[in-house]
Amino acid sequence: MTSLNDKEYLVDENKVWFTGGYWPEGVPKQLKDVEGIDITPLWKGFIKSADDYGIWDSDICIFAYGSYMERVKLRKLFEYAKKFGTFLYHTLGIRKGDVVAIDLPNSINFVVAYMGCQYIGAIVQGINPTYKPMELLHALTMTKAKVLVLMDMLYIAGPATILPKTSIKYLIPSNFTDFLTADEETIQQLGIPSAKDKIPSETEDYKVYLNMGKIKGKYRTPENIVFLVGEDNPIVEHKEHGVIYRFDFTKIMFSMGNLNERKFLSTLVKENEVIVDMFAGIGYFSLPIAKHSKPKIIYSIELNLESFKFLTENIKINHLDNIIIPINGDSKSEVIKLSKSGVRADRVIMGVFPAPKDFIKEALTLIKESGTTFHYEGVAMKENYLSLFNEFKEIAEMSNYKCKLLSKRFVKSYGPHLYHIVVDILVSKD
Ligand SMILES: C[S@@+](CC[C@H](N)C(=O)[O-])C[C@H]1O[C@@H](n2cnc3c(N)ncnc32)[C@H](O)[C@@H]1O
Repeated sequence: MTSLNDKEYLVDENKVWFTGGYWPEGVPKQLKDVEGIDITPLWKGFIKSADDYGIWDSDICIFAYGSYMERVKLRKLFEYAKKFGTFLYHTLGIRKGDVVAIDLPNSINFVVAYMGCQYIGAIVQGINPTYKPMELLHALTMTKAKVLVLMDMLYIAGPATILPKTSIKYLIPSNFTDFLTADEETIQQLGIPSAKDKIPSETEDYKVYLNMGKIKGKYRTPENIVFLVGEDNPIVEHKEHGVIYRFDFTKIMFSMGNLNERKFLSTLVKENEVIVDMFAGIGYFSLPIAKHSKPKIIYSIELNLESFKFLTENIKINHLDNIIIPINGDSKSEVIKLSKSGVRADRVIMGVFPAPKDFIKEALTLIKESGTTFHYEGVAMKENYLSLFNEFKEIAEMSNYKCKLLSKRFVKSYGPHLYHIVVDILVSKD
């Protein structure tokens, strides 16, 4: 016989709230000391209450919307709950102690699902319908719930993306109209949205990955992106500012924080410019410049073969083959080759972290008589942006070049007090 003296019902009386001298005199510490408390399964408790208050035939409003209202006798509500519990037990094989997660807003649907679980001794896990997919994943992983009852409209925003990663075996979609007895036409006129048809039997319509790391190394690659669910195909096409960027986002960085800089650089470019993009990646800057400005030519240098592959592909899919020349190699030596072949640039883009100080000397070999603008990137404290200009200037002045700071931009926050900064420097012969 289960009793309130059993260990599982006893509270540890050494807890600080008991021993700290604040527990009010006369308030029982144990359930067994509360008068009239008994161990009663909740389902039996429901029945006892209905009996005690004599309300089996009372009307309960289960749905009200505009002028439409639906009522049932309490007796009927119990019937619904029993039916649901029986379905869980016989059809789905849910047993005492199994967890059933209920992701429903305040509604009769919740009450029926909750009571049905009590009927068969299943454990109810209430899910907050505003949970984001990762919160839901966490909640379901903790309890190892086997069934998820949910309002169909919540499917796309939540479980769609994470369900296959959980131990959920059965998904039971529900809708506010489930308990309505009016004819179909009347129900349709209510205009209650439904998304049951949006719940696919297969999962290949979407892909979900979890970014668990940072952007690292000289190739600026994502450290750890793990596949969660859906179709495991990490090649994406991102459209931005009239440009298509195709890339594998598990291997190649794409920072939305750099969006404005990608747009802005093309506005600085004048017609017929010769441009060298020393750290071109998949064409972050080269593509929008070639698309929106009218440069004569852009030499886009990229060392990482993976990025280079997408750079050449992106040049093709954006139809920019006549403007961009992709070069696979180390820009330190490639700019020397360009300069030896007579290339002189109006603009040199030096977009990589950490600031490419070691490449300045080589980049300077591209300077034009009339001057060349360098876009030099780095990370610094906001008030220290001049340190980037100064390190460039120091090296340029050693080779007798003159530097003028044209402007600076704080592209994005990069950590506590740190910013991704770009300085535009006009360099000319002394
Ligand atoms: C990730 S991009 C940064 C682009 C731009 N700053 C942005 O944030 O959108 C920098 C690229 O430089 C490339 N890279 C690194 N070292 C290089 C080198 N020595 N020569 C050419 N490319 C290099 C990396 O592989 C990477 O694709």
